Amino acid sequence: MEQAIDRLLKEESSAFYVFDTAVLRERIAYLRRHLPERAALCYAVKANPFIVRELKGAVERFEICSPGETEICMKAGIDPEEMVISGVYKTPSVTEELVRGGFTGVITAESLTQYRQLCELSEKYSCRIKVLPRLTNGSQFGMDAEDIENIIASLPEHPGIEITGIQYFSGTQKTSLKRFGRELEQLDRFMGELKERHGFEAKYLEYGTGFPVAYFEGEELDEDTLLDGFTELVNSMEFKGELILELGRSIAASCGRYFTHIVDIKRCKGVDYALVDGGMHQLVYFGQYMAMKKPLFSVAGKSEIIPGKQWTVCGALCSMNDIIVKQAELPEIETGDVLCFENAGAYCMTEGISLLLSRDLPAVYIVKEDGSAVRVRRTFETRQLNTPKYEIEGE
Ligand SMILES: Cc1ncc(COP(=O)(O)O)c(C=O)c1O
Repeated sequence: MEQAIDRLLKEESSAFYVFDTAVLRERIAYLRRHLPERAALCYAVKANPFIVRELKGAVERFEICSPGETEICMKAGIDPEEMVISGVYKTPSVTEELVRGGFTGVITAESLTQYRQLCELSEKYSCRIKVLPRLTNGSQFGMDAEDIENIIASLPEHPGIEITGIQYFSGTQKTSLKRFGRELEQLDRFMGELKERHGFEAKYLEYGTGFPVAYFEGEELDEDTLLDGFTELVNSMEFKGELILELGRSIAASCGRYFTHIVDIKRCKGVDYALVDGGMHQLVYFGQYMAMKKPLFSVAGKSEIIPGKQWTVCGALCSMNDIIVKQAELPEIETGDVLCFENAGAYCMTEGISLLLSRDLPAVYIVKEDGSAVRVRRTFETRQLNTPKYEIEGE
């Protein structure tokens, strides 16, 4: 792995990401060791679409929230049986296309409108559709418990619909066992009521737990205790069906690193600045704003910190917000040095304002388990997307 990185550091002249398959596999093994035995893992593709193929066979399901993600998973050869087509808005024509093509995975229903479309499609194409209604947490996502109950009560009118269970997600970076306890109890009670009142037994509970990742210096996270505590809570549930844990950042964050080059060094009004070719548009850490917190990072190939001198690391956007690190002691640095940011495997690369200033998107590498690196995206010019094309035919 380190050899591959050394080579990339020599070859790449601008920012890039590296996702490490071995770290990803170890992470999955760790989660399985600490989570309930009966729990299956469902990878939330939005966290990082570049590692879908690496996760094939390593997780049981893939949660997919857009037509783009569907195509990415299809191209990666994911078995449709392992797909959970999810998302607050599903393009109706795309849903119809899937059903018409005999899709065998699960489709979530986030609203009565989505559910009605699935009922209509099952009649139109005389097929069976596996549907997973999403229970709301009080946000715009999902449906009220009463709506789900009505859906289940009226199932005899829709023989083409198979309700496989309940989906629930209430937020990310959750660290409170008390909160997990409350949510699991609520879900357990709801599924108990559905059984009692309607004879409905959920096969699956698909729960997005929002397990946390420690991104910043000084942040304490006793993950073993949190996950073991979560497992105890699950083991005391009445519900004995399959638990599917929908996870994004908890699976993907640790496998990723972001590399960005120092391109200028200067001092303004007594502050020492290191300017990098990347920036906040390529490195988004949950909970970070104006470098209020310090992400875990290092200077490639240099480890001896020079105490006393405080650096502010800024990106290449013409925005005063584009500060990545503030008041950091660094080794002796110079233009051309590369900063390496850890835990950049989830959301970091896709949540940024990547079209601002029409800068290029970084290249992406996957480091395989044998240590070799494969480039899966070249540096990508966004200027094409920001260029108006007056000469488009017919306009
Ligand atoms: C429905 C659903 N499931 C799972 C996830 C993944 O969350 P996390 O990355 O916190 O694990 C999300 C994230 O937005 C989500 O909306």
